[in-house]
Amino acid sequence: MPNQYKDLLTGNSRWVNNTLRHNPEFFHQLATEQHPKFLWIGCSDSRVPATEITNALPGSIFVQRNIANMVVHTDSNLLSVVNYAVKVLKVKHIIVCGHYGCGGVKAAMSNDKFGFLDNWLMHIKDVYKMNQAELDGIADESKRFDRYVELNIIEQVSNLAKVSFIQEEWEEGEFPHIHGWIYSLEDGLINDLNVSINSNAGLENIYKYKKNLESPLQDLPADK
Ligand code: CO
Repeated sequence: MPNQYKDLLTGNSRWVNNTLRHNPEFFHQLATEQHPKFLWIGCSDSRVPATEITNALPGSIFVQRNIANMVVHTDSNLLSVVNYAVKVLKVKHIIVCGHYGCGGVKAAMSNDKFGFLDNWLMHIKDVYKMNQAELDGIADESKRFDRYVELNIIEQVSNLAKVSFIQEEWEEGEFPHIHGWIYSLEDGLINDLNVSINSNAGLENIYKYKKNLESPLQDLPADK
């Protein structure tokens, strides 16, 4: 079907017509600015689109997606999105939403090679290593896979808390709140993993930054 992509354009004009029928002002209202209250960090998986599965409208969720909803501290794309969301849009909530059956996590759990992707999957493998005792203790492979997906989400919530400019926001107020959610492909339901945080209190000491007043930006310590 070489022209199948055109279905998307047809779908777009149908969507515009439907949207205008319900709210003739819809595009006028959204055209000049956005005030999303949420940042969504999700998996690129085509089955887990942020706005559809939360019944949310355009304008309500700022979105970053990658394979297995990872927060990698050298990913300048993700960090730029998070920085803009937190510093400029002032989102109140950041949601890391993973999903059972995640292909990225499954690939990381195996010893198979995936070419270039192996570099990305390494970050997921590191999460296995951090939780090896628990995961190795689960005999049933599908249960171990499910738990690995959950632990990966929890780790990415913690990775966000380690980001210095997020800790800066917490110096000034209670937001953003960071949440870990999991989506089930089987029934379409999202479960809250109840790991929400809005402080660095739970982090190991090495990841806790001094408050700005105590520690103005400094040059890296010189090597003597
Ligand atoms: Co996935």
